[in-house]
Amino acid sequence: MSFWQRHQVFEKNSIILVIGILLVIAIGGLVEITPLFYLKSTIEAVDGVRPYTPLELAGRNIYVREGCYLCHSQMVRPLRDEVERYGHFSLAAESMYDHPFQWGSKRTGPDLARVGNKYSDDWHVTHLANPRAIVPQSIMPGYPFLKENELDANNVADHLKTLRAVGVPYTDDQIANAAADLKAQVDPDGAGADALTKRYPKAVVRNFDGKAGAPTEMDALVAYLQMLGTLVDFKIYNEKANLR
Ligand code: HEC
Repeated sequence: MSFWQRHQVFEKNSIILVIGILLVIAIGGLVEITPLFYLKSTIEAVDGVRPYTPLELAGRNIYVREGCYLCHSQMVRPLRDEVERYGHFSLAAESMYDHPFQWGSKRTGPDLARVGNKYSDDWHVTHLANPRAIVPQSIMPGYPFLKENELDANNVADHLKTLRAVGVPYTDDQIANAAADLKAQVDPDGAGADALTKRYPKAVVRNFDGKAGAPTEMDALVAYLQMLGTLVDFKIYNEKANLR
């Protein structure tokens, strides 16, 4: 009896076929699932990735509150057209501290995963207040109130603690200084700037909204947008992959 003739046993008897299917799926399942039980993490650590500063985190909360994710994704897919338009494709580690992540799939507007440093703060402030001031055909809504709203900083330390509970490695020092760090990030001449950049490497300290006084919601949102995609040095990756 040839191999294919023996295969008739499966083809002619549905119960044996079902048992065979279950057996093969079980092997596949074990191969996929068992490693997850002993791997410490499925996300490769990447140099430069750090938890958000309190101000960036507050900006991220405004991003979620205003529903920016309804029109913007934050994941560059590993496809040629995406990489040529936005830059290196997103790495898992880049969103490892995002709860919830903002990958998204709806792109009424462009992907924002690498928008940091693409424009000036002033560009963002003008664009967010009235997108048509910069892009006449834009259908993005304006958010002029962000400039007027003082940022509610009362619960920022609690927010850091909550994120720590789900695995973001905020230290006691970062939590204790959360409110001070939030203010320090918009005050480049202040005393707290150095301590902030020590706690959060590569944190940018600037008066993001261009207005003196207490941090506004605009400060927070622009600080967040300006750091997106800037933590990892992709020069090394691009050289390795011989890209650009
Ligand atoms: C109704 C859909 C919509 C919503 C909601 C929306 N946007 Fe947009 N956004 C767009 C479109 C369309 C563009 C492209 C035209 C333009 O630049 O205005 C855009 C462009 C942008 C750009 C420029 C990106 C680039 O690379 O040029 C940024 C930054 C941005 N949006 C941020 C935001 C933020 C932050 C929010 C939430 C406060 C938001 N958007 C909400 C549709 C939207």
